[in-house]
Amino acid sequence: MNAIKRRDFLKTATLTGIAVMASGPYSSLAEAFLKDRKTEITLRAAVTEFDPGTGRSFKAWTYNGSVPGPEIRIREGDTLRVRLVNNLPDGTTIHWHGLPVPNRMDGVPYVTQKPVKKGDDFLYEFRATPPGTYIYHSHEGYQLDQGLYGVIVVEPKREERGYDREYTITLEDWASVDGAGPEASRQGRIMPQTGMMGMGRGRSAGGPLREPLYDLYLINGKVFQSQKPFTIKKGERVRFRITNPSSSTIYTLRIGGHRMRITHADARPVSPYLVDALRIGMGERYDVEIEGNNPGRWLIYNIRDGSPVSGRPLGMLLYSGINRKGFDDDPGPLNRINDYYIMEGIDDGHVRPVDSIDRVFRMNLSGGMMGSPYWTINGKVYPESDDIVIKPGERVRLEYFNHSMAPHPMHLHGHFFEVAGTGRKTGTRIRKDTIIVPPMMGRAAVEFVADNPGVWIHHCHNLYHLAGGMANLIRNTK
Ligand code: C2O
Ligand code: CU
Repeated sequence: MNAIKRRDFLKTATLTGIAVMASGPYSSLAEAFLKDRKTEITLRAAVTEFDPGTGRSFKAWTYNGSVPGPEIRIREGDTLRVRLVNNLPDGTTIHWHGLPVPNRMDGVPYVTQKPVKKGDDFLYEFRATPPGTYIYHSHEGYQLDQGLYGVIVVEPKREERGYDREYTITLEDWASVDGAGPEASRQGRIMPQTGMMGMGRGRSAGGPLREPLYDLYLINGKVFQSQKPFTIKKGERVRFRITNPSSSTIYTLRIGGHRMRITHADARPVSPYLVDALRIGMGERYDVEIEGNNPGRWLIYNIRDGSPVSGRPLGMLLYSGINRKGFDDDPGPLNRINDYYIMEGIDDGHVRPVDSIDRVFRMNLSGGMMGSPYWTINGKVYPESDDIVIKPGERVRLEYFNHSMAPHPMHLHGHFFEVAGTGRKTGTRIRKDTIIVPPMMGRAAVEFVADNPGVWIHHCHNLYHLAGGMANLIRNTK
């Protein structure tokens, strides 16, 4: 957990001219970092014991022995070098989710690199920009659902918004068996699916796995019972960087007694937007602020997602000076939940605006019928799916039609896109890299300038839908 006295820090920064902040395991790197403006870290992937706070350990796949992996903090424009050391029994890669890195650093096995073999290592190196909240995770198989994920924050050169304290929240669905999600699925502990006939094993002979049934929901790697409260003082403004590296859970997150002011969606600034609860899909990130104007002991909980996690407490917000047992009742109100189409973007110059469209591609999303583990784009399972072939610099529109019963958070690598239909008041649309396409004939469209050459994967960020084929390649080469 990462608490920073932000206003104090900004004061110090202005006085000394130091605008670099390193925290947790990285503070020792701060000096080297100041000299050559490169941050170098090592992420060691291995199978280790992990106790999600239940008092029982399970074998998890971890970076540097923890779930989530260490939080990486780097200043905008600086170079990040990460040495991945693979001590896992399988090949692996790291993907820098949301960061428009050069193609060969994107960490997608067999698309941008060969998987790093057991015992080998690999050096990722890229300039960290634009500022914002991102995720890093393995892009191999089901490893994300076994614990190989973490948060990476690119600190802005100049902070636009003042706040007193900040926390990171990573939301994670967890299956408490050795090997986590995929092992649970292999053992037949699977999510009941709409239209599914009978039970059956997770894997149908060599095919992809079905979504496991999760029994734990974690914030920063801990269940509610072992959660340290997020502390706040009356009068403080607190920023939460909320990230969802879950493999298949969309949350509607509520912080009791408070509204959240959304300031960033997927690392990009938006016109501040107040909500009572935050709907956040797999792969999405939101920065929100709360005002410390309601002293008490409040639950942080998931109010609705159609899965067994509903209503389950996840964490606690605690005012200093408050010590009573139990929790304050949180009757709501629950009038406003974030909706892309009421939000307005802010153009901070980091993403090229889309002024017209050269190419339109339709993406029919389907699959999962009768409990099938296969998920398709335009009727095909990756890697048989059709490539999207474009030329560098083209302005591209992707139109999604969801014919299935499941929502799909679609994620584009290497670029931010504008969400069509947003920014109605100011004319500036929101930029994101992941968008939830609602189920049952739900639609959405996104537009982007193909200004990052290479072959990029584009896929659903439900890990089991990705593994079940809901992906294709955007070929942006000469
Ligand atoms: Cu976080 Cu290809 O994704
Ligand atoms: Cu999906």
